[in-house]
Amino acid sequence: MSKSLDTSTTETEQTVTEVIDTVVATTPDVRRAIADHRGQSNSVNPTGDDQLAADLRADELFEQRLLGIDGVATYASEERADVKTTDGRLHVAMDPLDGSSNLEPNSGMGTIFGVYSEQPPTVGTNLLAAGFVIYGPITSMVVARKGSVREYILEDGDKRVVDDDVTVPEDPTVFGFGGGVDSWTDEFQSYAEEVRHELKLRYGGAMVADINQVLTYGGIFSYPGLVSAPDGKLRTLFEGVPIAHIVETAGGASSDGSRSLLDVEPDGLHERVPVHVGNQPLIDRLEAALA
Ligand code: AHG
Ligand code: MN
Ligand code: MN
Repeated sequence: MSKSLDTSTTETEQTVTEVIDTVVATTPDVRRAIADHRGQSNSVNPTGDDQLAADLRADELFEQRLLGIDGVATYASEERADVKTTDGRLHVAMDPLDGSSNLEPNSGMGTIFGVYSEQPPTVGTNLLAAGFVIYGPITSMVVARKGSVREYILEDGDKRVVDDDVTVPEDPTVFGFGGGVDSWTDEFQSYAEEVRHELKLRYGGAMVADINQVLTYGGIFSYPGLVSAPDGKLRTLFEGVPIAHIVETAGGASSDGSRSLLDVEPDGLHERVPVHVGNQPLIDRLEAALA
């Protein structure tokens, strides 16, 4: 019994490594897609967002390459209605291009990925690894796996570690709240009013870049439930849960307003969830404010 368990664990870890290295190897092609495929595609994704040609190109690249890995059984992404399946054991869920509204103004964008032991939709505690790439002045990647968070610089499809133990700093410095002041609930408005006197505003419209601010400087990122959209804007499987896994692994906390995002049991592939991640005390205060 223990033999097969060991083998599957080793195989599982090998597949997780292959997924991470395939994402790394694909980043130069995604950067090229951002430069070359800049138009609209006249189509919308399953959550109703307009799709840029770069969204579709990035999704195509990742789907081909990740499904080409022996141990990968399925590929799911915010850009496609259904899960793509093949033989294998692990399941990859992706936001192939995060913050694509930043393409035109050339602000930060990224890729978010999660490797699950069960086929999505599934709960965040089934994540084996999660990570995000930032296509910024340099290309960087942050990965949470086996209880720690590492940051890498990516060059020419290779990665080198720049921080092998990323942890959310104790003293918070920044905050970033999405959705727009007038769309917030009264409870979130009062919380935001307190926080904005304590911390510095860092909100750039691409989740991965705003999250990296929180990982670097401490603070909180929220895309809250709105009066008009109680589940907010961000997708549970492709954005909220993988990012929550990273921030919690880095010693921070996450919440959908009342509990960890890793405990949210999504019914559908494309559902949305309010996202709050950052220092535990700020998340505790937020949950108290929304209670
Ligand atoms: P995507 O480009 O993958 O749809 O993600 C955009 C998301 C997220 O990256 C960001 O935090 C949020 O949308 C910004 O929303 P607003 O434009 O409403 O601020
Ligand atoms: Mn996207
Ligand atoms: Mn996104």
